Amino acid sequence: MTTRHFLTDLDLSPEELTRVLNLADWMKANPYAIKPLAGPQTAAVFFDKTSTRTRISFGSGIAALGGSPLIINPGESQLGHKESIADTARVLERQVSLIVWRTYAQTGLEEMAEHSRAPVINALSDDYHPCQLLADLQAAREKLGSLAGRSLAYLGDAANNMANSYLLAGVNAGMDVRIAGPGGYLPSQDIILAAEERAAQTGAKVTITTDPGAALQGAEVVATDTWVSMGQEEEKEQRMRLFGDYQVSAEAMGKAAEGAVVLHCLPAYRGAEITAEVLDGEQSIIWDEAENRLHAQKALMAWLLVESGLADGETARLVREAEAGTA
Ligand code: CP
Repeated sequence: MTTRHFLTDLDLSPEELTRVLNLADWMKANPYAIKPLAGPQTAAVFFDKTSTRTRISFGSGIAALGGSPLIINPGESQLGHKESIADTARVLERQVSLIVWRTYAQTGLEEMAEHSRAPVINALSDDYHPCQLLADLQAAREKLGSLAGRSLAYLGDAANNMANSYLLAGVNAGMDVRIAGPGGYLPSQDIILAAEERAAQTGAKVTITTDPGAALQGAEVVATDTWVSMGQEEEKEQRMRLFGDYQVSAEAMGKAAEGAVVLHCLPAYRGAEITAEVLDGEQSIIWDEAENRLHAQKALMAWLLVESGLADGETARLVREAEAGTA
């Protein structure tokens, strides 16, 4: 069997995405029923950047799957500076069952996956944050009941990893995805082309615009992200001015659908990309979204191990039933 990795939002087919979300819902209701890492087996979780949610959710999730998380903080290993990614992967695959990595370059993740029999998971790169989108889609589906055909507007820095992942994961789920940001801060042509190609399979729609009002019109899901990502602190003042028209405020929400839900991957800056009124208001499902990092990533890890032929028979049976909705 070929090892399955999760490096971008499009590494799951549309049908597989639905199955993983079904599994996440089942595992949320049955948190300790599936234990593919019993032993305990070890999962290595590397951080080249800081984290709260990703660290806690992978650490807790690996433990709940019966395993032992090995968290490696920035500067604690030879990875990438004293030893190549490929050689690190060759060592890791003999000792751990999963590799989770928050890093900068997407190419690093690709190199790790190329040399690892253990599944590799992108825990955020410069280009994508696909685990976050599993949690976001799970939260939106819980609230709205379905995803295909629903409209999703993302406002703000539309050239960052969250915008890319909203676009790709949204079209993978068959949604009407509207991405709005100022000129020069929109997704690259490569990302737009990949989204359009997947949208042609799922019936999704893709709109890239500089007009936040157009993106928001009747939107059922409204999402944003920080305007100042890790490493951009020196550009803070310029960015606050640049993205000001894209704030998710009560006025902006007035253009969205009645009953629209609001997502933010956190950490959030109240009064910048989102007002306190919206973040802490009734339309916010941000805390469910944060909780779902745990459930969605547990589902993803179990699913990748089963798909890769690395799980025991009982785990595989339960995963197959839960993803199909028959468990
Ligand atoms: N949303 C998210 O990835 O949070 P952390 O950076 O705290 O992990």
